[in-house]
Amino acid sequence: MNLFKKPIAISLSPNLQPDDISLCLRTVFNYSRWKIGPAIKEAENRFRKNFNTDGVYSFNSGRSALYFILEALGIGDGDEVIIQAFTCVAVPDSILWRKGIPVYADIDESLNIDPKLLEQLITRKTKAIIVQHTFGLPAKINEIKKITQKYKIVLIEDCSHALGLEIGGKAAGKWGDAASFSFGRDKVISSIFGGMAVFNNLSGKQAIVIKQKYGQLKMPGNKWIGQQLMHPLLFSLVLPLYRLGLGKLLLFAALKIGLISRPVERKELNGGRPDRYPSRMPNALAVLLLNQLDKLHEYNGHRRLISEIYQRELAGMKKTKLPPELPGAVFLRYNILHPEAKKLLRFFKLEGIILGNWYQSIIDPIGVDLKKIGYRKSCCPKAEIAAETSLNLPTYPNMKEADAVGIAVKLRQYENR
Ligand SMILES: Cc1ncc(COP(=O)(O)O)c(C=O)c1O
Repeated sequence: MNLFKKPIAISLSPNLQPDDISLCLRTVFNYSRWKIGPAIKEAENRFRKNFNTDGVYSFNSGRSALYFILEALGIGDGDEVIIQAFTCVAVPDSILWRKGIPVYADIDESLNIDPKLLEQLITRKTKAIIVQHTFGLPAKINEIKKITQKYKIVLIEDCSHALGLEIGGKAAGKWGDAASFSFGRDKVISSIFGGMAVFNNLSGKQAIVIKQKYGQLKMPGNKWIGQQLMHPLLFSLVLPLYRLGLGKLLLFAALKIGLISRPVERKELNGGRPDRYPSRMPNALAVLLLNQLDKLHEYNGHRRLISEIYQRELAGMKKTKLPPELPGAVFLRYNILHPEAKKLLRFFKLEGIILGNWYQSIIDPIGVDLKKIGYRKSCCPKAEIAAETSLNLPTYPNMKEADAVGIAVKLRQYENR
């Protein structure tokens, strides 16, 4: 066995390729352009063109984008916002940071908000519904849109997993009043940290106010930008050393001394807001984003191909429930449901394969104080079962078709034991 071979790992900077790493190295040395530079406008303009709207603003993260959307649309103080359970804490946090109230809806078989349950959750205080296309599987956006129109509620799409997804020929992100995108390290494309807000149908007056609000936002500090730029460079060392155990050690040490940053800070687990949210996207990360944007089509094509392999190789298994076949799905992760998901995660780890555990906690990651973020246990039973039984198979750009076949074979072996 080649000990320096990179492991199959869903979460270890899965999108980064040699061109991203060399670009990152050049960006590190272009210190005067870390904060301000032309890449920011260029990245925003690409979204303006793709989504056919001028209302596009870039951020240092998806959660900043979501927070800004809520603020821009006047949603806050005591307003209720319906979101799905089985999500990332960044979603309810964005609402809590605005002093709003997250109201949790249960999910359907696509692991997205179940439109049938929405009307009973709507009250006079409901101001918005945030729809998430989980793992790149389309939500029932048509049905949800009808409900938001009926009750005159704002519709926000959280496209953190769904850049490039089309539903009925229309891009995810175009269906609602606004949409947020994330370019976090494990997302469809990655600038390590980053986000975008897209506003559809703004009135002239609204557009001016939003532009002014955005103008007041700060850039993250140089230390934080440096931490993000270190990430691809560090991972180019961590991955080949991972099987030897040294990679893990290096990663641990880098986090400990603050060479790289954590995706979620401790205070966010309790609904707290770190100072850097919301902030604008710095030029250095926009440079990385542009390079990844060029590869979006190729990446999503590869993800579809890998998903087809799983679909074929795992068909007919008794305990393994495959995701529904929905047209257009981009499969950021290929999520199966299995009664022994946690055991399977360990089984694969022993085999040197790191699968994914989104969302192993009903509001992820583990350690979130459910009470503080307003989730009442048992209120969303289907989402709780999904959290218990989900196992994400990788579809990321760097993995090979043979890797997917190998994972399917091992899964069958496990079931037939
Ligand atoms: C559904 C969803 N929305 C929003 C976010 C937050 O994105 P970011 O990490 O860019 O703030 C995440 C993060 O994983 C997510 O899964």
